Amino acid sequence: MIFTIEVNNKQIKAKTGETILSALRRNGIDVPTLCYLPELDATGACRICVVEVEGKPQLVTSCSQPVEEWMKIFTHSPRVIQARKTLIELLLANHPDDCLYCPCNGRCELQHLAGELNVRERRFPNKKSPARLDQTCSALVWDPAKCILCGRCVRSCDEIIGVSILDLIRRGEKISIGTTFEKPLNLSNCITCGQCIQACPTAALREKEAFAGVQEILHKPSIFPVVQYSPVISVSLAEEFGIKPGKDLQGILNSVLRKIGFKKVFDITFAADVLVLELADTLLKRIALGEKLPLISSCCPGWVKYAEQYLPGNLDLLAPLKSPQQIMGKLIKRYYADMQGITPEDIVVTSVMPCTAKKFEAQREEMSLQGTAEVDTVITTRELAKLIRLNGIDINQLDEEMTDSPFASRSTAGKLFGVSGGIVEALIRTLHFRLTMKEIANPKITKIRGFKEKKEVYINIEGKEYGFAAVSTVKALPSLLDEIQSGKKNIQFIEVMACPGGCINGGGQPIQGNGETSQLRAKAIYDIDDKESIKASHKNPAVFDLYQKLLQEPGSPMSSALFTAVFNKRTVLL
Ligand code: SF4
Ligand code: SF4
Ligand code: FES
Repeated sequence: MIFTIEVNNKQIKAKTGETILSALRRNGIDVPTLCYLPELDATGACRICVVEVEGKPQLVTSCSQPVEEWMKIFTHSPRVIQARKTLIELLLANHPDDCLYCPCNGRCELQHLAGELNVRERRFPNKKSPARLDQTCSALVWDPAKCILCGRCVRSCDEIIGVSILDLIRRGEKISIGTTFEKPLNLSNCITCGQCIQACPTAALREKEAFAGVQEILHKPSIFPVVQYSPVISVSLAEEFGIKPGKDLQGILNSVLRKIGFKKVFDITFAADVLVLELADTLLKRIALGEKLPLISSCCPGWVKYAEQYLPGNLDLLAPLKSPQQIMGKLIKRYYADMQGITPEDIVVTSVMPCTAKKFEAQREEMSLQGTAEVDTVITTRELAKLIRLNGIDINQLDEEMTDSPFASRSTAGKLFGVSGGIVEALIRTLHFRLTMKEIANPKITKIRGFKEKKEVYINIEGKEYGFAAVSTVKALPSLLDEIQSGKKNIQFIEVMACPGGCINGGGQPIQGNGETSQLRAKAIYDIDDKESIKASHKNPAVFDLYQKLLQEPGSPMSSALFTAVFNKRTVLL
C-alpha cells in the first residue's frame, strides 16, 4: 500500500513494509549510512542514519526502522546533525590519523562523512590499544586499527559469499572483527575472494598491493616484463577514471600497458579459448568412459580453495585443468620464451585481474615449474589504475592498439568467461561443434545469462540431452550437487564462480556504487559477443595455430603436461 508521510515539512509517498531510508532515498532525500548496504540485512549497528521522528523520544535508525503512515520525520534537524557528528567523532577517536598515507585516502567513507559533518578536530582521546596488522595472506591485508566495526565484511562473507569466516569477537573495549579462533588470515578458511574488501568502508580490509613492485621491475634492463589481463578488465577499468560503467577500453588498455613499460601485452581471453577446447575434451571423455560426473569448472581460485577446504570428497569432480591465468602464464614462459629465445627466468609475467584470489592462485606451489612461477605478480583492476596514475598517463589521449602475437586473437566466447554462465555458454558452442562438426545455430544461450545464484540449461545435440548449470557464490552449490547425485537432475557440467555474477564483480574490481554497475559491465561483454564475428573458442585462428605448432589436439600428452592441475584437500579450522 502506498501512503503519504511528512519529511522535513514536505509530503512524500512511502510504501508499506519499506524502511524509512528506502522511502527517503526513493524520494531523493539523502541520509548518510555506514553499516548499511542495500544487498545485506540491516543491523542498525552504526546509527549514522538516525532521523528524528516526531513523538519518539529517541532518534531512530532509518535503515532498519519500517516507515509508518503517521510519521513526521526530520532528517537534518540540529539534533540529528549533532548526533551524527558525535558518532563520527567517536569513531575517529579510535582511528589512526594517517589518512595521507592510507591506501583508502579519497575513497574512505569515514573520511568522507567526517568532511560532510564538518569534523575538524579530535574531540575525544584515542583509547584504542595498537592492533597488529595481519599481512599473512597472499591476497588480503587486515588492519584492525582502521576497523569501525560496521560489520559489512561479516555480512558479505556470510550472506553474499556463504563462507562465514568473519565475526565479531571479544567484548567491551576489546571487541574486534576476527576469524575462527582468531587465526591469522593465511591459516583461516578465507577463500580470498575479496568481497569483504568491496564491502569495507575504510582500509581495514584491503588487497595486498603489488603494483609498486611491478613499477620497480619495469625498468630493470635484465628483465623482460610481460603483462596479461583478464577478459573483464577492458569493461571495468574506465570506472576508475570516472567514465560511465560499461565502456569497453580494450584497444586503449593495450596501448596504456605498453606506455607503462611492458614489452609484450597479452589478453588472457586467448587462454580461456584454449581452456574451452580442453574442457570440452575432458567432458566428452568422461561421458564416453562413464566416469564420475558432473564435471565442475576449476577456473575460479576462490571456488577451488573452497572445494579443497569444504568439499574434499568431491575434488575428483573438478576439471583437472589450470585456469586461464595460469595457462597463459605457462604458454608465455614455455612456448613464447622458446619462440623468442628468451630464458623463462628473465621473463616477469604480471597479471591484471578483477580478482584478489588470483594473487593466491599464482603463488600456489602447483602453479610453478621447477621453482619458476608461471605468473610472477598479480595486480587488481584498482591497482592497475594506480599504476596508470603513477606513470602520469592520460587514458583519453591514447590511440587503440592490438595485443601481441602469437596470442593476438580471441573469441567472444572466451570474453564471456567474465560473466556468470559464460564458461557454460562458451563450452556449449565448442561442444556442439565437437559433436556435430557444425556450428551451433544460435550461440546465444540466454537461459544461462543473468545474475541469479543458480542457472540451468539443457541442450539437445543430435538427440542427446546435455545439462549445464552455472552457480555464482557457493551458496547454491551443495543443494544442486545433492539433486544431481541423487539422480533428480541430469547435469553433466557445472560452472562455479565464488563472486556474485562472476568475475565482473570480483573482489579486485573498482568499488561499486550500485547494482546497476554490474549490469552495465555484463552488458558490455554481451555487446562484444553480439558485435564480433569469432564467437566460438575453436574458431580463434591463433588457438588453431597453437594446436598445430605445439599442442596437437585437446587432451594430448603435451596439453596435459602443460595444463594439468592438481587439487588437494586443505586442512583448516572450520
Ligand atoms: S576474502 Fe572472501 S572468504 Fe575471505 S573473509 Fe573476505 S569475504 Fe570472506
Ligand atoms: S573490517 Fe571494514 S567492513 Fe569489516 S567491520 Fe571493520 S570497517 Fe566494517
Ligand atoms: S547505516 Fe543505519 S545503523 Fe548504520
